[in-house]
Amino acid sequence: MFQENLLKGKTILVTGGGTGLGKSMSKRFSELGANIVITSRKLEVLEQTAAELSAETGNPVLAVAADVRKPLEIEAAMQAAVERFGQIDVLLNNAAGNFISPTERLSYKAFDVVVDIVLKGTYYFSLAMGKYWIEKGIKGTMLNIVTTYASTGSGYVVPSAVSKAGVLNLTRSLAAEWGKYGIRLNAIAPGPFPTEGAWTRLLPDPRMEQKLINRIPLKRTGEHIELANLATYLVSDFSGYMTGEVVTIDGGEWLAGAGEFNWLDVIKPEEWDIYEKIVRGKS
Ligand code: HXC
Ligand code: NAP
Repeated sequence: MFQENLLKGKTILVTGGGTGLGKSMSKRFSELGANIVITSRKLEVLEQTAAELSAETGNPVLAVAADVRKPLEIEAAMQAAVERFGQIDVLLNNAAGNFISPTERLSYKAFDVVVDIVLKGTYYFSLAMGKYWIEKGIKGTMLNIVTTYASTGSGYVVPSAVSKAGVLNLTRSLAAEWGKYGIRLNAIAPGPFPTEGAWTRLLPDPRMEQKLINRIPLKRTGEHIELANLATYLVSDFSGYMTGEVVTIDGGEWLAGAGEFNWLDVIKPEEWDIYEKIVRGKS
């Protein structure tokens, strides 16, 4: 689908790039020629992923530990990236924390821990990168990974929902403010894509996965390559006139949940025969 070397010459920093979707997107960008920098808290995991990806793609992947809640660590990671690759062109805000829980069972700290990673961590990294791009005159691009419930809200993941809503608003707000510097910001709202990080914290009982799949019109979860290809387009120059946008990739899940009569899926053809008669009889 994409030209070989589509991303050659670009340096892309991926937060939470050692695992899950961050790793899959990093792999795709690296296959297409980009220099990759992956950051998160666990240096050992990052180093293993960096070695694995660069062996697979033949392109450089730098691992740097940086907690998104710590501005000094963010700045040090950016400095390491610039020292290695000359400049940073793209920031992918992907790091997150989340778990299911009835909200009334949460302590203040449990709420804070998710908001600190997802909302504050994203705006810390965005602020550091924006200052750097503006100072250096770099027309950078940011891509923020949110969720479909950033727009709809969702029970049982309320700290994540309020944080992702904030990240979506940050995307739109900064797209308007920093467009004058040539900086673009977009977001992706994924539905469910199996990862160890998400599945262990959001679907602790294996039976929950089938319930989730039943809600999705396409009757399956997403494949990482489908998300990675969308992310590739949004960080590439082919999306050069797109900014402040959020693209949903969820097999139709959220719309199916929202549409007033979508629940009529459960009605069998013989029941429709009866209902049609009744409805026609009324006219
Ligand atoms: C209630 C919990 C809890 C749980 C932790 N806490 N887990 N409360 N239910 N399951 C509480 C703790 O008791 C503590 O509060 C506070 O939260 C902080 O917990 P720590 O374990 O000290 O935090 P920390 O070690 O920093 O870990 C952060 C974390 C963890 C968010 C809790 O899960 C993590 O590291 N996650 C990173 C990866 C991740 O979450 N990936 C999934 C992203 S999936 P007290 O008051 O007791 O001290 C995603 C997808 C969304 O976002 C959409 C899917 C469709
Ligand atoms: P994941 O593998 O658990 O990814 C989360 C990453 O964030 C980890 O690599 C983790 O690494 C990093 N991280 C957590 N706290 C951090 C911190 N304080 N500082 C720096 N890095 C931190 O889960 P995933 O499913 O791939 O999620 C990736 C993104 O997709 C998240 O934004 C998530 O909300 C979003 N998303 C996922 C799904 C899905 O179905 N999987 C759906 C919608 C949206 P360390 O532990 O090493 O720090």
